[in-house]
Amino acid sequence: MNIIVTGGAGFIGSALVRRLVKETEANVIVLDKLTYAGTLSSIKEVSSSPKCHFVQGDICDRELVTRLFHEVKPERIMHLAAESHVDRSIDAPLDFVNTNVVGTATLLQAALEYWRTLPDDKREAFRFQHISTDEVYGTLGETGYFREDTPYSPHSPYSASKASSDHFVRAWHDTFGLPVLITNCSNNYGPYQFPEKLIPLVTLNALEGRELPVYGTGANVRDWLFVEDHVTALCLVGDKGTPGRTYNIGGHSERSNIQVVRTICGILDEIRPRQDGRKYEEQIRFVKDRPGHDLRYAIDADRIAAELGWKPSQTFQQGMRLTVQWYLDNAWWWKPLREQRYSGQRLGNDK
Ligand code: NAD
Ligand code: TYD
Repeated sequence: MNIIVTGGAGFIGSALVRRLVKETEANVIVLDKLTYAGTLSSIKEVSSSPKCHFVQGDICDRELVTRLFHEVKPERIMHLAAESHVDRSIDAPLDFVNTNVVGTATLLQAALEYWRTLPDDKREAFRFQHISTDEVYGTLGETGYFREDTPYSPHSPYSASKASSDHFVRAWHDTFGLPVLITNCSNNYGPYQFPEKLIPLVTLNALEGRELPVYGTGANVRDWLFVEDHVTALCLVGDKGTPGRTYNIGGHSERSNIQVVRTICGILDEIRPRQDGRKYEEQIRFVKDRPGHDLRYAIDADRIAAELGWKPSQTFQQGMRLTVQWYLDNAWWWKPLREQRYSGQRLGNDK
């Protein structure tokens, strides 16, 4: 099977590429622009495999993506390329419209044109798999869960652009019959996450003796999922999901941000204690809140559990230990990114 993975040099995309190359027979063709968030070092482990191919390019480049479909003749495309950071979407929203909306529509149209050339059996087997977020549903209060039929209500430019992309994907299914699959997943964490997101940012700031910025009161809740569990779900949905259907993916692992930050501090106190004998928690600072900050996300993952038999394998405690230890052991990966691309300053309109 030939699988195109867009965004395969990013956090989740690279975990998927490593899995597909190591554990399946598939030929994996990575299409990635290598923005600030993408780096080939994330797929170094598998890039010399004859089953792994890399194409540097922009999903908005219509000519390139059209050509790629006809050359690769994929059975499946797994679309993860995106601008993914909410704070950056506050600083530069149009980048999110371009990549997440225009880029997704460009891929859909190229996929459709290619799909229409296929014989019946190949047409039936083809899948356009769109990887999306639970943030499209907006925010929850203290109770309740996002289900697949929860109405969309995005608040940030990031979530609005992902919501829009989901609508386009459904439109290509409903109007043209393209066999699409959509997944909406909760917050991921794990190795190779770009150190702008909460968990790696706090881990590295802690190690460097810097402040640990917690937005607002730290009461906002996210439902954390270990990235490898997300990858397992994506492979399952690709293999067994029903075209046109949406699957929510979540960890049943709700934590407030302050709990997450304290967990990281506690793990570091144990495995890499501060040299002055004090606790990492002393570095926590409550800072001005993110504008439009969603209070709580939590996923009802009953559909994917019941229909496809998926459930997460890592607990939050185990996954966090693995993750923090990974950052301690893999400075070769994050140091150049911290030094050359983003050094941890506040993003997202803190004026
Ligand atoms: P990431 O920012 O780590 O990686 C994105 C990748 O896309 C990078 O390699 C980047 O170079 C590439 N890219 C960006 N613009 C591109 C363009 N125009 N053309 C080609 N490549 C481009 O993101 P991530 O956290 O791995 O997220 C992957 C996908 O999963 C996204 O679609 C995101 O919305 C979704 N998602 C993420 C999370 C999460 O917690 N990180 C949760 C749910 C869903
Ligand atoms: P983030 O990792 O940016 O993911 P998302 O915004 O997609 O949920 O942020 C996770 C939570 O942590 C979110 O509620 C914002 C908060 N946060 C902080 O409190 N401090 C920070 O420095 C960052 C980056 C995020």
